[in-house]
Amino acid sequence: MAEKISRYLVTSALPYANGPLHVGQIAGAYLPADIFVRYLRARGEDVIYICGTDEHGVPITLTAEREGTTPREVVDHWWTHMKGTFARFGISFDNFSRTSTELHAENTQMIYRRLKEGGYISEDASLQMYSPTEGRFLPDRYVEGTCPYCGYREARGDQCDNCGRWYEAYQLIEPYSKTTGGPAEPRETTHLYLDLPDFSERLKEWIGSQQHWRGTVKNFILGMIESGLEQRPITRDISWGVPVPEPGFEDKRFYVWFDAPIGYISSTMEWAERIGEPDRWREYWQDPDTRMIHFIAKDNTVFHTVVWPAMLMGAAEGGGEPWVLPYDVPANEFMNLEVVVDGEPRAMQMSTSRNLAVWLHEALDRFPADALRFYLASTLPETADVNFSWRDFQTRVNSDLIGNLANYVNRVLSFTEKYADGVLERPDELHPEALQAFADFREIERRYDARMRDERPREALSELLALGRRANQFFDSEAPWNMRKEDMGRTRATLYACAVMLQSIAFHAAPYVPEAVESLGGFFDGPAVPMPDEQGGLPERFGVSGARPLFRRIEDDEVNAAESRLTNAATGGEGA
Ligand code: 2FM
Ligand code: ZN
Repeated sequence: MAEKISRYLVTSALPYANGPLHVGQIAGAYLPADIFVRYLRARGEDVIYICGTDEHGVPITLTAEREGTTPREVVDHWWTHMKGTFARFGISFDNFSRTSTELHAENTQMIYRRLKEGGYISEDASLQMYSPTEGRFLPDRYVEGTCPYCGYREARGDQCDNCGRWYEAYQLIEPYSKTTGGPAEPRETTHLYLDLPDFSERLKEWIGSQQHWRGTVKNFILGMIESGLEQRPITRDISWGVPVPEPGFEDKRFYVWFDAPIGYISSTMEWAERIGEPDRWREYWQDPDTRMIHFIAKDNTVFHTVVWPAMLMGAAEGGGEPWVLPYDVPANEFMNLEVVVDGEPRAMQMSTSRNLAVWLHEALDRFPADALRFYLASTLPETADVNFSWRDFQTRVNSDLIGNLANYVNRVLSFTEKYADGVLERPDELHPEALQAFADFREIERRYDARMRDERPREALSELLALGRRANQFFDSEAPWNMRKEDMGRTRATLYACAVMLQSIAFHAAPYVPEAVESLGGFFDGPAVPMPDEQGGLPERFGVSGARPLFRRIEDDEVNAAESRLTNAATGGEGA
């Protein structure tokens, strides 16, 4: 097995506390991280899994306004909802914090001060759109007007949908606020900027030396740095967010993308406090042996591979211990939907505003978490965009999870209970066919381990299915249902060998279907462990009592119901 690394700090992108979670987010950042972390823990690695909600940003203020409530109420509601939904889905965070805490505000200001101390912060004035009726500055995407180039009347704040030209919002003719329809006008405002160009060379060198990064991520980012980085404003004219510790900035707040990644640090500190070792966070953030891995979807790549590392590098020069830089940023592609319209499957992009999405909490009301985890894991967008399809969900669960893996478990356990009194003693000798199957298992396990450590749980899942096929093949070729009539001794030895393989299947399945593997422990007396090596380590006995099926089949009518929910959303039909 691979050499032991001292420590892992694994994070998933902090989701905005502004609405329910959908399966696209889950497949992009949470499920792959959870599977990876569960596997490392089972291998005895030192790993913590950190997350929390991203509670700042303009969309949250707008939700509050729309609903006639406050940003605080919005984020409180969604923090609770998300934490609960993640728990139902079996996401095993070590800590799930939020960015509206006092501790997080202090950390954000501390990183800011260090960046300033390091010489990376400057102040500059610019023109920004202001709405006199609302009494506030408007972010670009909340301004519309007539295109200065083609005269199109509903041109967006930064780009015209009609002629495609880019411009500054203040160039729009007769600009207006998208929320109220009232007029908007340019006004001068001052902001703080992070000197990103200063980091170009360092970033290029650092990223260039990351041999293990995904090629897509690395090339995209290197290309971007090559074409030139710009000064990044890190403050906004808004009232909801982390206060800026500078005179004259009382009415401004830090930009949400400045404080959000610092949330990883805050959440780790909160974890350390909670476990009663308040200094433990330092091991993960300040010891260079830590491998910090950020699981994200591809739209978050630039922030995690350029801006965030620059912030960490720069802050280190402003005092205190240096920070650990990301070891890897496995950025996933997108998950789209397959929706049945007029009886035909069609690929569509999720649209949260049209309710055209598979919301995780709704999916969990219909189906068991493990079944959803298994399907999503089998179709993670590791290398390309993928489509979520309820039909495909049914097929994968019924044929791979149940038909291959659970079927094996079921055959071995029920046979053992029925014909071997539920007890399997270690035989004096295992026959060559069993030893060959064990050797094949070790080989497949090695591939599984390599793919998992490479942060590719979807690929590792195909190795898990290979274990299932190999085990079923062994069971079939031994045909214990015939053998038991002639040679009960060999039949027992066969079943014993089957139980050894079952331990390995349980071990490798656990990161994907944790609930099922836990309930297996209720009727199968044998640990979930990898295949022991040739030197021994085989248990003396296994016991089986009261075995029952681990999963239920997914039925047509359930899938039809889930599918029509989407069809209605896509076509504006009933129940959408
Ligand atoms: O895109 C998003 O959902 C952001 N809230 C992700 C933030 S990740 C991290 F930096 F906090
Ligand atoms: Zn135009």
